[in-house]
Amino acid sequence: MEKREELYKGKAKSVYSTDDPKSLILVFRNDTSAFDGKKVEQLDRKGMVNNKFNAFIMQKLEEAGVETHFNKLLNDQEALVKCLKMMPLECVVRNVSAGSICRRLGVEEGLDLNPPTFEFFLKNDALGDPMVNEYHIQSFGWAEKEHVLKMKELTFKVNDVLKQLFLDGGMLLVDYKLEFGIYDGRVVLGDEFTPDGCRLWDVETRKKLDKDRFRQGLGDVVESYEEVGLRLGIKFD
Ligand code: TMP
Ligand code: ASP
Repeated sequence: MEKREELYKGKAKSVYSTDDPKSLILVFRNDTSAFDGKKVEQLDRKGMVNNKFNAFIMQKLEEAGVETHFNKLLNDQEALVKCLKMMPLECVVRNVSAGSICRRLGVEEGLDLNPPTFEFFLKNDALGDPMVNEYHIQSFGWAEKEHVLKMKELTFKVNDVLKQLFLDGGMLLVDYKLEFGIYDGRVVLGDEFTPDGCRLWDVETRKKLDKDRFRQGLGDVVESYEEVGLRLGIKFD
């Protein structure tokens, strides 16, 4: 598969076209960003760790019947994926309160949420990824009604699969963000699932093992991502 032009450079990944119009190459860079790109650093090994972590999770989700864009790993920092028409939305499920919901609603961190909550955010750094509802999505044409329903259904299905997977590794899946696109008319999971886009706590000590270590300056960011991976049985070398 030949890598051609860079189509898009995100905060942590770049997307390249290939000689196949239905395939793209994702490059996981070492760049680590938080607060809508206001804090950015290069973290050694992060691109490789996230690329392999994402491959492992996407394969688990495929096995559970969630269609994803993932095709195969090409090398340490690159993966071949299906070319989706992305919807400009982020789907967030929360099992435990943390992050923006605590600031927005004045609730303390660490409350079990029963049932888990679901939120849509508009992907727009300049606006700080504002929360939007299903009426906004319809009125502004960001996604079709049936696709909105499907995104919610798939995001909760991912919760069922991954909550248990992480629990088996002694971790609590606190919350996570997914992005979907359309492929041959179907809603397919795109982007990535890595500790950059979810919160994971040790189930006993509640130690943070995800990107909050970077956001909050707690250190050992990539080391923690690797620890999460090792607990799931991922091999990084
Ligand atoms: P939040 O608490 O900042 O709203 O984030 C909820 C979860 O979604 C958290 O695991 C981080 C993830 N997330 C991203 O990865 N990127 C984003 O742009 C947003 C809004 C959330
Ligand atoms: N990934 C987003 C950013 O850079 C949001 C975040 O994770 O804080 O800026």
